[in-house]
Amino acid sequence: MLIRALDLADEGGLRAWYDLLVEAEAVDHPEWPPDPWEEHRESYAATASRRFEVWLAEDGGHLLGVAVVELSLLDNLDTAAVEVLVRPRDRRRGVGRALSAHAEERVRRLGRRRILAEVAEPLTHGAGAAGPSFAAAMGFQRALDEIRRVLDLSGVDDARLDALEKEAREHAGGYEVLSWVDVAPEEVVDDLALLMGRMSTDAPMGDVVWEPEAWDAARLREQEASNRRTGRRQLVAAARHVASGRLAAFTVIAVSRYRAEPGYQWDTLVAPDHRGHRLGTLVKVENLRALRRESPGTLTLHTWNAESNTHMVAVNEAMGFRPVERLAEWQREL
Ligand code: ACO
Repeated sequence: MLIRALDLADEGGLRAWYDLLVEAEAVDHPEWPPDPWEEHRESYAATASRRFEVWLAEDGGHLLGVAVVELSLLDNLDTAAVEVLVRPRDRRRGVGRALSAHAEERVRRLGRRRILAEVAEPLTHGAGAAGPSFAAAMGFQRALDEIRRVLDLSGVDDARLDALEKEAREHAGGYEVLSWVDVAPEEVVDDLALLMGRMSTDAPMGDVVWEPEAWDAARLREQEASNRRTGRRQLVAAARHVASGRLAAFTVIAVSRYRAEPGYQWDTLVAPDHRGHRLGTLVKVENLRALRRESPGTLTLHTWNAESNTHMVAVNEAMGFRPVERLAEWQREL
């Protein structure tokens, strides 16, 4: 077995990796397709805030598995995220172990001293599943428990949304709702960047060591450009405090331009001074309506929350999200 770097400009190499991903996901997540090829192809280009290294394990030209090393460049310079994936028919032969050791060596050489890995497992009886067993065998500690939930949009009726909105508005006097697609209006960019930064401090992180992310207008615009390049449309709903003019809450849904299904509920945050006004519900209901308008072919919405994030989970459950899978963050100090 040989481990070599993938040239991220090599479309053939990116395609071979994508084909492996499709094959693995058909086994690991049969109900949940991988991102479209067009998105995969563009997702690993370096930006000012992060870059990737992708390592391929091959045997006689046959691709056995992949390790992806993600490096944040503006903050969290001690940490790297690593993801190992092995072709189903080549599992339990030491490929994952070899890729993991290689990635660890790279992370050390790059001067970083902590590795994070996201590992999926079944909702119940996950302890013996491949991912967590592998992470534990590689010396990682479980650091945060999350649940993936899915909303079946065909089961959400407008009367339910109206009722949720009405109830939220009774607590949200003095706020107005804004919404946009892809590009934030210039007048909210600085406030939105502040709220994006708070995502890294305000969402529960369990034992994950993660320093506050450095967000400003430039990083926000760069993220928008990156989503444009990968074909991710972003639907954003936000609440503005009318008296001060400051942005108080936002929520983002992402849908691929190449395939309407599924959609992803990304970040939602209410600024600390504005909590208790049901703004989380208000912006989420507004954004669900926007999703129906902008992308009627989207039938399901996936989201992830820390198990301990009881407030956000309650909002999601009220909207009809139901748990389907566990996802844990594992961490290893080198
Ligand atoms: N059940 C129990 N233990 C397992 C399993 C399993 N199915 N798979 C691996 N392990 C543990 C064992 O301790 C094993 O050592 P052993 O074979 O000497 O008992 C050790 O992990 C190393 O196993 P490898 O053969 O090197 O692992 P493999 O090549 O099969 O790859 C992987 C394992 C990457 C988890 C594979 O099943 C896969 O691609 N799964 C889907 C994606 C995933 O979950 N990735 C892991 C994320 S964690 C991370 O990236 C650091």
